Amino acid sequence: MSSSKHSDWSADDGAALYRIRDWGNGYFDVSAKGEVTVKVAFPEGDVQVPLPEILDGIRQRGLQLPLLLRIENLLDAQIARLNESFRRTMQEQGYRGSYQGVFPIKVNQQRQVVEEIARFGAPYRHGLEAGSKAELVIALANLPADGSLVICNGYKDREFIDLGLRANQLGYRCVFVIETPSELPIILERSRALGIEPLLGVRVKLSTQVGGHWNLTSGDRSIFGLSISQLIETVDQLKAEGMLHCLRLLHSHLGSQIPNIRDIRAAATEGCRFYLELLREGAPMGFIDFGGGLAVDYLGSCSRDSQSRNYSMDEYCSDLVETVSRCLDGSGAEHPVIVTESGRPTVAYYSMLLFNIFDVTRFDPGDLPKRLPEEEHQLLRKLEAVLQRVEEADLQSSYNNATFYRDELHELFERGEVSLRQRALAQDLYLAICHRIKQQLSGEENIPSELQGLTEQLADIYYGNLSVFQSLPDHWAIGQLFPVAPIDRLDQRPDRDAVIADITCDSDGRISRFIDTSGSRTTLPLHDIEPGEDYTLGAFLVGAYQETLGDLHNLFGDTCVASVRIDADGSFEITREDRGDSIADVLGYVQYNARDLAEQFRRTAEQAVREGRISVAQRQEVLERFNASLNGYCYFED
Ligand SMILES: Cc1ncc(COP(=O)(O)O)c(C=O)c1O
Repeated sequence: MSSSKHSDWSADDGAALYRIRDWGNGYFDVSAKGEVTVKVAFPEGDVQVPLPEILDGIRQRGLQLPLLLRIENLLDAQIARLNESFRRTMQEQGYRGSYQGVFPIKVNQQRQVVEEIARFGAPYRHGLEAGSKAELVIALANLPADGSLVICNGYKDREFIDLGLRANQLGYRCVFVIETPSELPIILERSRALGIEPLLGVRVKLSTQVGGHWNLTSGDRSIFGLSISQLIETVDQLKAEGMLHCLRLLHSHLGSQIPNIRDIRAAATEGCRFYLELLREGAPMGFIDFGGGLAVDYLGSCSRDSQSRNYSMDEYCSDLVETVSRCLDGSGAEHPVIVTESGRPTVAYYSMLLFNIFDVTRFDPGDLPKRLPEEEHQLLRKLEAVLQRVEEADLQSSYNNATFYRDELHELFERGEVSLRQRALAQDLYLAICHRIKQQLSGEENIPSELQGLTEQLADIYYGNLSVFQSLPDHWAIGQLFPVAPIDRLDQRPDRDAVIADITCDSDGRISRFIDTSGSRTTLPLHDIEPGEDYTLGAFLVGAYQETLGDLHNLFGDTCVASVRIDADGSFEITREDRGDSIADVLGYVQYNARDLAEQFRRTAEQAVREGRISVAQRQEVLERFNASLNGYCYFED
């Protein structure tokens, strides 16, 4: 379909429909040709590279869809924005401390992600946060031993503590954040045994409660951190052991994706009060860690919706700096190093999942006869009459009648009183009525609630080559929204409403909620596609949490991954290519051995030869197919 057929529609309309400039954070746009582009800022000026061009380059190198595409420049840009924003606001506000960011490894543990953060973050001395022994190992292997900050959260056993203490001897600054009272005696015992003093932090339960999805880490009933009485016990214990001078950091993470800046300010104020009280108790302190929470605007609505945020990154940085100054000035306390553990905003923009649509089911009526014969079943004739009168009749009443006659006919079918063809005709008449009602409703403001569901009821199903469970687990588990849009044809008006079913055989395997100004919508406008036509969609902002939370439902494993670096002249380099899981790979995850399976199948085929059911040549063919399957991509292949 050429764009000239849609002279009333431009690429800008496409950009607005999919809200690309709203959620894109300046990183995504749409070209005049209707292609989604990635935009990267260079000193020489911005460059924009169309995603279809990048995808072509990757496909030519043999990687297939679904594909997780990482644009390294976007990760670097987010680290730079965060650090620069704190630096700028500290300078403007005359803040006398400094900022140190740490990336929480749990948000995306993939090797190339952490390596890139360590590499690009080095000039900013961007550190890492580890919530487990495995993550501590990753942190130590990736950061230089030159005072790099490693915040150790989570429950720490002797092994964890010994490694952190020894690492500090090497030159790291591993801070053990005490989450429960039971940790302190172990830390003190290991410190004495190894003769190394620890750097300690305390995580406190703030009473400030925040909005959003991930708020169980806030409030008095939070499962993490020390209660007030436990905090006092910890301070007393440190005093008694002569170790209070080791207490350097206050930690107050409230949860991920905090949509309301006022909650962040309130929590930071409460955190500062704890900080001051710990100074008063005699602890040297020096670091105040506000954890994560800096949200990503998945909706692009700049609102207090849990999938959005009502503030910018600059406002977040400036508010934290101002809060700390305001709370501490007057007390004589020095300005501390402000630490944040922003993971989601660091990596979310960096990755997108590209997947193709391989089939479509439509809920359009088939061709209807001009007029039903007189002798046709009375219920079918009634449906025909409803159809003919949709324009004049009350729409709700047409819908009620159509539904009633259709259901009656279904009952007759069950009793064997109408034929399969009559039931099919009833279905077509019913769909024709619903479509006509939907047409009549377009532009209406007060739509009766039942009729509001018609768009969803009549939506096409676009079958996407992806597993929601593997690639968008938070959409399946907690209804998190990710922007989804075609990566091309945005200069053409999309004339279908669709939901997206994934490739797993599970009714939950679908994307049926999409971003909208008012929060979410149940269908996505998409373009009509011919059978076999290439149509690629992107699910954007998936760099945070999705990769490692994903699971192997129906044995759909890791997708292909490609990392790309865009240069100032608009060219790009594919810096990394990882083939997605083969069938043998995913079978290995569930303890099957590909060789054993091949051998079992060989025996079955050999038996068939001996029993004369297939020839030797046919045996070879089927075995070749079996082995090719084992080596093939676990997703739908062209
Ligand atoms: C202790 C801690 N720090 C940082 C983060 C990352 O937070 P965010 O996803 O808001 O970047 C988390 C995640 O919830 C966390 O538990």
